[in-house]
Amino acid sequence: MKQEKNFIVKGNICYSEGPEKIRTTEQGFAVCLDGVSQGVFPRIPEEFQNLPVLDFGQNLIIPGLTDLHIHAPQYGFRSLGMDLELLEWLNTRTFPEEEKYADEEYAREGYSIFAEDLKMGATTRVCAFGTIHRRSTEILMDCLEETGLISRVGKVNMDRNSSPGLTEESPRKSLEETLLWLEETEGRYENVSPILTPRFVPSCSDELLKGLGEIGMEKGLPVQSHLSENQGEIRMVKELCPWSAFYGDVYDRFGLFGGENPAIMAHCVWSSEEEMERMKERGVFVAHCAQSNANLASGIAPVRRYMDLGLKVGLGSDVAGGVHTSIFRGMADAIMASKLRWRLVDDSLKPLTVEEAFYLGTRGGGAFFGKVGSLEKGFEFDAVVMDDSILRSPRTLTLAERLERMIYLSESCRVEAKFVAGRRIF
Ligand code: GUN
Ligand code: FE
Repeated sequence: MKQEKNFIVKGNICYSEGPEKIRTTEQGFAVCLDGVSQGVFPRIPEEFQNLPVLDFGQNLIIPGLTDLHIHAPQYGFRSLGMDLELLEWLNTRTFPEEEKYADEEYAREGYSIFAEDLKMGATTRVCAFGTIHRRSTEILMDCLEETGLISRVGKVNMDRNSSPGLTEESPRKSLEETLLWLEETEGRYENVSPILTPRFVPSCSDELLKGLGEIGMEKGLPVQSHLSENQGEIRMVKELCPWSAFYGDVYDRFGLFGGENPAIMAHCVWSSEEEMERMKERGVFVAHCAQSNANLASGIAPVRRYMDLGLKVGLGSDVAGGVHTSIFRGMADAIMASKLRWRLVDDSLKPLTVEEAFYLGTRGGGAFFGKVGSLEKGFEFDAVVMDDSILRSPRTLTLAERLERMIYLSESCRVEAKFVAGRRIF
């Protein structure tokens, strides 16, 4: 039965109008018609008088958060073994764990824990990596479908420089499995859709990337991958693809770098001016993963520069490089990282403000999914109701101050209710 998607939520409502501006309405009314926001009002407009009102009292109501980059099979070992840099960490910690996802039983257990936990947080949209395993990736899609979150999920492609258990037999075999996975899952889900997922250039041959580009063109699929995260990784790409002008040029050569089909590139810590220019031209989304970049000692991405250039930017948890799935935490970490970069690396790039970080975690990343990440009229109605009553203070706080406090102290707050495209999922 189709759930009724016409209602009003009442409470203390905050959303971004742009990177610099958060609009707050105390005891406001957010109107949802057929899953789409009609705007936020101080009183119920005449035309909506007969809609049911869900009153959330003094709770905060904000747009759902978007996680543009997470590895579902890495959820089970998050916060373990964070003492290595990227390439060594992949070889010794990550690949052995991802190999276990050849076992569908293990995958079912791991992915149901991942999906159930994600459901209870403030994220409403997510782009997730699976593993190379087709069947297990379908299990991940099944698990995410059940949560009611809207997601993009990728079967990972890898045919070189990986552990034997995580190396697909040949580019052809990897492409065949991808096509089979796309066929098998087509039309099966309401909330989950596929995204092409070459892991990164070091683990994908030119032939594989070329084939994926062709599949993407033919089927009109988006792409997710990693870009310029670590200096050793960048050197490796230069050796593997000496013909390339820069790292991102490799994806671009094969039609996997935005343009017609949107692409998300995680990290971009060390992108050159040329690479940034190309990202801008192609409308590539940067998934900024500040915590992961610190944990794996990758560096600090110049997010301010990306925003000044007008690149599309959102936030990613990058579990298990990052240990927290919370995009509130992603906002706080992005601010902190930008301050360190400003102080230690480049004092011409001012740190991010709270308003900007909130924007990145809501509208910035949400844009990958369309009109998502705001409660302005016309946006899909993704909203989370946050109970911050546990945070006590003798001060009287404005709504903007409560939002700021919640960004930093979200771990203590509770998600009271969650709506995804107008559907209440709890
Ligand atoms: N680059 C290629 N694979 C990965 C991964 O699993 N995590 C991170 N952080 N970077 C990667
Ligand atoms: Fe990643």
